[in-house]
Amino acid sequence: MTRSIRPLVAGNWKMNGLRAELAIAAEVAKGYAPELKNKVDLAICPPASLLFMTSAALIGTRIATGGQDCSIQEAGAFTGEISAAMLADAGASYAIVGHSERRTLHGETNAIVKEKAQASQKALLVPIVCVGETKDEREAGRALAIVRKQLRGSVPDGATAATLVIAYEPVWAIGTGLTPTPQDVAEMHEAIRAELGKLLGKSVAAGVRLLYGGSVKPSNAAELMNVAHVDGALVGGASLKAEDFLAIAKACA
Ligand code: 13P
Repeated sequence: MTRSIRPLVAGNWKMNGLRAELAIAAEVAKGYAPELKNKVDLAICPPASLLFMTSAALIGTRIATGGQDCSIQEAGAFTGEISAAMLADAGASYAIVGHSERRTLHGETNAIVKEKAQASQKALLVPIVCVGETKDEREAGRALAIVRKQLRGSVPDGATAATLVIAYEPVWAIGTGLTPTPQDVAEMHEAIRAELGKLLGKSVAAGVRLLYGGSVKPSNAAELMNVAHVDGALVGGASLKAEDFLAIAKACA
């Protein structure tokens, strides 16, 4: 498949990983051979406790790191929060914002996600803005409408292809082993590109990377990654095994 956009495969480790798991990052780096490096960008988003050490371990490998969330605030009395500048200072290039686990478990609205995306951009991080419908919403035929609304509410104004990544992650596909059909992914990604065109202008939208996430595994990666307008993956569980993460990356090459 000829791609006009260089794909990105990002691993979201979620709340997994102690220092011993730095070995996974090292193994990914070892397997990131020149032929893959020429074609696919990689990023690892470890828990905040490992971000600095992961970034340090990956210096010189061209594998980026990212945070999994950031505060809308820059600094101050916000116990437990982490600012975008802190993520950048720990070596991150990306920040995942609006992941469904944050939207659901922490009540993050589109407006909050937008503020987080803007805070990331201010710290020169590229936000990976997550969107996706629930099972009920898909079954009710509302998936496209829901995702369009999430985009309108959470994409920062004035974003460019260099300052924004979108991840479509159907909530019902996350950690369940279920995936949408390639046709459903194609329809959704095309709709996302079109909505971004309205928000940011067609030429900007044409270059924004649209990742698919939700139960991506080596066994289904080729099918999902070859869908039009799929420019990479946001990988949860499978990113905790270097071999699987690299196999998914290879499916994008
Ligand atoms: P899984 O790959 O484990 O389904 O998780 C997807 C995800 O939520 C990535 O952000």
